[in-house]
Amino acid sequence: MSLPKDNKDSIPEPTKGLEGIVAADTTLSSVNGEKGILRYCGYNIDDLAFSTTFEETICLLYDNELPNKERLDEMTKNIGEARVLPKEVIEIITELVGKTSPMSTLRTVVSVLGHYEKNVPLKELPPKALRLVGQIATAVAMIHRSRENLPIIEADPTKGHAEDFLKMLHGTDSSKTQVNALNLYLILLADHGFNASTFSARVTAGTLANLHSAITSAVGTLSGPLHGGANEKAMDMIIEVGTKKKASDYIQNAFDTKQKIMGFGHRVYKVDDARKPHLKKMAKKIWEEKNDMKLFEVSEEIEKQVKDRKAIITNVDFYSAPLLYGLDIPTDLFTPLFAMSRIAGWTAHVLEQYRNNRLIRPRARYVGQIDRTFRPIEQR
Ligand SMILES: CC(C)(COP(=O)(O)OP(=O)(O)OC[C@H]1O[C@@H](n2cnc3c(N)ncnc32)[C@H](O)[C@@H]1OP(=O)(O)O)[C@@H](O)C(=O)NCCC(=O)NCCS
Repeated sequence: MSLPKDNKDSIPEPTKGLEGIVAADTTLSSVNGEKGILRYCGYNIDDLAFSTTFEETICLLYDNELPNKERLDEMTKNIGEARVLPKEVIEIITELVGKTSPMSTLRTVVSVLGHYEKNVPLKELPPKALRLVGQIATAVAMIHRSRENLPIIEADPTKGHAEDFLKMLHGTDSSKTQVNALNLYLILLADHGFNASTFSARVTAGTLANLHSAITSAVGTLSGPLHGGANEKAMDMIIEVGTKKKASDYIQNAFDTKQKIMGFGHRVYKVDDARKPHLKKMAKKIWEEKNDMKLFEVSEEIEKQVKDRKAIITNVDFYSAPLLYGLDIPTDLFTPLFAMSRIAGWTAHVLEQYRNNRLIRPRARYVGQIDRTFRPIEQR
């Protein structure tokens, strides 16, 4: 590209997509893309996945320590009590559903919830952040029940977050396997370094804008198909393929027509995503309990067909899809479910950003024309 001389001299070559750029320090999570390891505050997620709850993960991200029993009970109670929405917000949900996507409704809800909060000093911000963790789950369940014209189910603060969410969504009690599956999903997606939505939350927080503004930015960023929207598209693909026999032609056609296959590829992982084996194992368990392995087997076949053709890693979204679908969650709620988990990481990152803030402000390289001659509007 030929550039105006003064720009070329003064501004270095940009790093497209900021690949490999380290933008800040964090103590929350670390991703080793070469080895496929994800750690939260130093703990390998392989150790956390099946042995903890979402509430424990939140304690870890907020306190940088695993909780003792007392702290965990307090956290469970606080999130439970936070699963309540102001009456006016419920009315906004009722007004919006059916007119826009669940993810757009959720973004609006997060923004509106900010109006019900006072500005507080940093040391009082964690309880406010935690309220949002609880409220997001209730909002997702209400968005669904409201559009289906089903009665709203009140939150039950005595229940765990995953169990209560499933109850608020479906109106019925879930099996132990289903609750465990949702817990696992919420734990595994809670944080992941400087992914796009977390980064956008930190950029917004970096201007010292308030918590709800930062989380609204994050929800909007997550909605894109190259980020949180990929799980929904992955499930659409699995359903469209429908049978194991059709997987080969479908994937061949996707490669021939240079389509991106959703649930594959990652900016950081060079081997399979650290979360994938756990999600795959749990998705299998869910479908075994349903005694219907068809869609799970189609998923496995798609994975095989992709790998046979190109060395692309399987990312978190691929097996999240059959896991969530196996919990009878409609595909257009998959990305809101992702938000319901990642809110833990987003809020923890916003708190971390405020604690050690510096405005995040990179530069752009201007590659347009310079020294153009201005002509008044009558002469154009
Ligand atoms: C995640 C993603 C955005 C990463 O993007 P990126 O780091 O910019 O990587 P690129 O898009 O430049 O991909 C690098 C190469 O792998 C290929 N590739 C990456 N992901 C692919 C996919 N899902 N399907 C087919 N090819 C893919 C690209 O075509 C490119 O090939 P080339 O070098 O021959 O041109 C990308 O892999 C993608 O779009 N995946 C599908 C969406 C998805 O699952 N997102 C959730 C991420 S957790």
